[in-house]
Amino acid sequence: MQIFLDTANLEEIRKAKEWGAIDGVTTNPSLVSKENEDFHSLVGKICEMVEGPVSAEVISLESEGMIKEAQELSKIAPNVVVKLPITLDGLKAVNTLEKQGISTNVTLVFSVNQALLAANAGASYVSPFLGRLDDIGESGVALVEDLVEVFDNYSFSTQIISASIRHPQHMVEVARVGSHVATIPFKVLQQMVSHPLTDIGIKRFLEDWEKSKSSS
Ligand code: E4P
Repeated sequence: MQIFLDTANLEEIRKAKEWGAIDGVTTNPSLVSKENEDFHSLVGKICEMVEGPVSAEVISLESEGMIKEAQELSKIAPNVVVKLPITLDGLKAVNTLEKQGISTNVTLVFSVNQALLAANAGASYVSPFLGRLDDIGESGVALVEDLVEVFDNYSFSTQIISASIRHPQHMVEVARVGSHVATIPFKVLQQMVSHPLTDIGIKRFLEDWEKSKSSS
């Protein structure tokens, strides 16, 4: 499973890259609004740092505006993936953009039917939002499991990006059900590497090492 970092923060991307931990980046308007920087210039900087796909989201609600924004975003770098919401206008834009060779990520997906329509329209990626489904008492992981099964049935080339990941257990579960990608906040990436027994193990090894040196 590929891992994308869900952030627009350059420092977080720099660190995750140094750890060799990420294959791409996803952003959204809320994440970009936290950074004090022009959107297009920020996307350009992220695309220079990351070789893999970098999702940048449109804010227009009508297909014409979405397509214009997408065409501008796609000029920033070849690895830009244009993120669009799953609406009828979003589908129309995806259908046009994919024919123009512009990769798309259909976002805010909460049902199999939404993902099916996005895949039929030619989307490169769909992003089911796990945490937000869990928040309303549904199961985000169950949705990803359904999507993997349905996409496999028809050999869709659309990749599933499990998004709105809130904790390391989400990662384990979406990896088990076969999500192609998971996009995660920096905090979850850090949590994935930690285990209390690893910390205890390192401490004991060092204590034993010191003991053997002082007794020799
Ligand atoms: C993914 O593409 C979204 O940017 C993100 O995962 C949303 O996560 P949230 O529900 O924690 O805001």
